Amino acid sequence: MKSFLYSGVVLRKAILIGALSCAMHPASAQSVNEDAAVTLAKAGKCFRCHSVDKAKKAPSYKRIAQKYKGKADAEAALLKHLSGSQQVKVEDGSDEQHEPPPAKDPADLLNLVRWVLSRE
Ligand code: HEC
Repeated sequence: MKSFLYSGVVLRKAILIGALSCAMHPASAQSVNEDAAVTLAKAGKCFRCHSVDKAKKAPSYKRIAQKYKGKADAEAALLKHLSGSQQVKVEDGSDEQHEPPPAKDPADLLNLVRWVLSRE
């Protein structure tokens, strides 16, 4: 049982690393499926705090894209931010939990990250 769980973790890591190396491949950098990204963002209730171009409880995706513009580690940083649950400070100063979106596949998460990064 223990080794079964362990291999599951290893497999998930391998998939994530695969997604990351694709993320660094320039040929795949432009391909964003907008509908899939918006559907996943809606499912994850991201628009409760984020808007594409207006500040809400959280910075707009446009602002986030501008912040990461030209940074080589942008995709990796956002993948990490969206891979776990973490505490963030919203506009009014209160703390809220940042929950990961319900992505079934690492590729869906990567697509959402690329969509955010291309909002600038
Ligand atoms: C409870 C409100 C809330 C919800 C819901 C929320 N976020 Fe956020 N998010 C924030 C706040 C606040 C920040 C800014 C945190 C910071 O810069 O420290 C943030 C930051 C981010 C960032 C930028 C991280 C960085 O490194 O600058 C991304 C990308 C992001 N959110 C995506 C999402 C996505 C995708 C969803 C839906 C799955 C989502 N957020 C749902 C509040 C929220």
